[in-house]
Amino acid sequence: MTPLILPKLTLMFLVLSLLLSFDQHKPTTTTTTFNFINTIPIHSFSSGSVSLSAINNHYSQSLLQYDFYRDSCPHAERIVRSTIHRLHKTTPSLIPALIRLAFRDCFIQGCDASILLDDDIYIDPEKESPPNGNLKGFDVIDTIKSNLEEACPGIVSCADIVVLAARDCVVLAGGPFYPLNTGRRDGSNSFADIVTDELPSPYADLSQIIASFKSRGFDEREMVTLLGAHNIGVINCKFFKNRLYNFSGTNEPDPSLDPEFLNVLRSRCNEVDALSTSTSAYTSHTSPSSLIKEQEITMDSEKSVSNFGMLYYRSLLQGKGVLYADQQLMEGEKTKYWVHKYASNPSLFHQDFAMAMMKLSDLQVLTMPMGQIRRTCSKVA
Ligand SMILES: *[C@@H]1O[C@H](CO)[C@@H](O)[C@H](O)[C@H]1NC(C)=O
Repeated sequence: MTPLILPKLTLMFLVLSLLLSFDQHKPTTTTTTFNFINTIPIHSFSSGSVSLSAINNHYSQSLLQYDFYRDSCPHAERIVRSTIHRLHKTTPSLIPALIRLAFRDCFIQGCDASILLDDDIYIDPEKESPPNGNLKGFDVIDTIKSNLEEACPGIVSCADIVVLAARDCVVLAGGPFYPLNTGRRDGSNSFADIVTDELPSPYADLSQIIASFKSRGFDEREMVTLLGAHNIGVINCKFFKNRLYNFSGTNEPDPSLDPEFLNVLRSRCNEVDALSTSTSAYTSHTSPSSLIKEQEITMDSEKSVSNFGMLYYRSLLQGKGVLYADQQLMEGEKTKYWVHKYASNPSLFHQDFAMAMMKLSDLQVLTMPMGQIRRTCSKVA
């Protein structure tokens, strides 16, 4: 680049960012509000929806835009949704996988698709950090991306795909629909060390979990809400086997476990395998023990789609949280209060869950002129 072009480009960026910032500060007009009512599927109103004033408040603080791709790739959100709907028919397990993927991406250095990057010379990939060892769904993101590249090459960011895909999965799981702003751009870094240090651990006690969520701007209510996503999917036995056989080195089970529930869990996760992996639950994908067929238990499955979230909170009330960290929600005044609330009020939970997911999806996003649009989600452009 010659020295002459550089200042011109810089100026262009400045003008561009100014223009963009004017656009952001424009109050949401009646027309936009109207548009997005039209795009919210009717069924999302059936059990708890987000109030419009809440959405407007939320959006006025966001650097992103509603329907960012309206001109550049008008069918972007529809392509994400139809791909998910098609793949879901043969692989229902993609639902919990993609919700988890969005959480893991956004919680670590923001929603910048850093979770998708493969190992490379300058990349220390989050996906290979031990706590992320069981993540799935990367192939689904790749399929969505290639469909989008076909429709509008180089336009839609992987970071937007991750949160939009999670949103559609929440709906498929029986949860609420929530509108999302778009215009996230992809980062060019991945942060494996931060995953290990800052992702809430399945063994964390209440104060650690609270601190971890608080560092991302979530209060205790929002934390209890987001953990409701543990309602679906599978949990690998290694994340809680210590509670069944040798809790805190006592050679006894976790005394807070309901005895009947303890037997159920023990029948699914046997001790032999437990002992081989109990010392370090996070090392599965690198240690020889990963060669043993991994044991896992299925949480709320498809049969209870209408109960999104409910089983989770009701289980906690009965002392039947599978992960130690989950059951910890019953140990705090405030967190216990919200567990009770959500267990008895599904529409309140749906409404709160929608808001919390919107907030999660906007964490530390990169917008123009930062970041890039990757062509392949696993590689920096
Ligand atoms: C239980 O855990 C403690 C501490 O981690 C360990 O020293 C002990 O060997 C374990 N017991 C069994 C039976 O593995």
